Amino acid sequence: MAPSIPLFSVFMSPEAIARSVEVLGCGFIGQGPQVEAFESKLKDWVTSPHVLTLNSGTSALHLALRLAGVEHGDEVISTAMTCMATNVPILANGARIVWADINPKTGNLCPKSVAEKITPKTKAIVCVDWGGYPCDFTELRAIADQHKIALIEDAAHAFGATYKNQKMAALPDFTTFSFQAIKHVTTVDGGALICRSEEDYKRGKLLRWYGIDRDVPRKDFRCEEDVLEFGYKFHMNDVAASIGVAQLDHAARIVGAHQKNGETYRAAFAGREERGLELLDYKDDRKSAFWLFTMLVDNREEFMKFMAERGITVSQVHARNDRHTVFRDFQTELPGVDAFSTRQVNLPVGWWLKEDQVQHIISTVDEFFPKSR
Ligand SMILES: Cc1ncc(COP(=O)(O)O)c(C=O)c1O
Repeated sequence: MAPSIPLFSVFMSPEAIARSVEVLGCGFIGQGPQVEAFESKLKDWVTSPHVLTLNSGTSALHLALRLAGVEHGDEVISTAMTCMATNVPILANGARIVWADINPKTGNLCPKSVAEKITPKTKAIVCVDWGGYPCDFTELRAIADQHKIALIEDAAHAFGATYKNQKMAALPDFTTFSFQAIKHVTTVDGGALICRSEEDYKRGKLLRWYGIDRDVPRKDFRCEEDVLEFGYKFHMNDVAASIGVAQLDHAARIVGAHQKNGETYRAAFAGREERGLELLDYKDDRKSAFWLFTMLVDNREEFMKFMAERGITVSQVHARNDRHTVFRDFQTELPGVDAFSTRQVNLPVGWWLKEDQVQHIISTVDEFFPKSR
């Protein structure tokens, strides 16, 4: 049998390798000119002047919550249908998680459920663009505005997605990206925080490096000026950033390949609900970045085994978070999560797929879920 078609693959351009080797040997590998260059390129990409590069997407979420004023005992509304990385920073900031339900046809937070979960203790809403498909930002923004709380978008899956023809950073107060190994754009590890306000951006710039202002002229090599509040060691280094600078040149092509494959599957698998295969309910006003191609299937275990036997790696990728012991205090009924998490499965969809592999995936799915006559 031919080797398996992977579900994920690391994209590393030759220029990124060359550039990082150069930086590794240049004598300065901390936060410096490469970080500046990567941030400046990212600003153009997200069309926001308020971009902070960081050492991971998890750090970006942690910092966003801090900037949003989340403190011990506060409540943060979040989704259980995501990577642990979305929710662990909420606990790390000392807050309680309140799960809102998801739309079982998209995997994204349901605004109606979010509105029902607001209390006087709610400080922020954290939403995730499942698989790269943008959340209902207009509705979530309205809820956040009404209650004067922050809207934080975990866009780890959604680099390159658009919402009403806008780059996603436009509506949330904070948008976070991940540049870990298997994301659309990788810097080996890394992340970014996009702030809606200038004030949050400026404070975030201090807090990503202990609270120290790196921009003030130094009299001495090390810092001697006052530090007003504690920060973190969350900044990006020049090696990672040099990779990012080179990788960004490929971002449009990478995202485009994911989108093309995703749309090919959607056309191929439409109208199979009676056969036990359902596509997610995607609206025309937004474009997924298709980090995942998720579909809802009956007989998931059998289907996954069938695909694996034919050399195609499929997976659930993320398990619902609310069942983990660490989150046991926040258990609640989530019928949308029940419906989605028991049927969702993901096919390889990325830039690494050759045309014949896409066709092999389609015909293998066809075999398991034949078209209705
Ligand atoms: C939805 C989601 N949020 C956050 C993260 C965290 O990103 P990082 O690994 O860069 O910390 C990931 C993935 O790793 C993710 O899939």
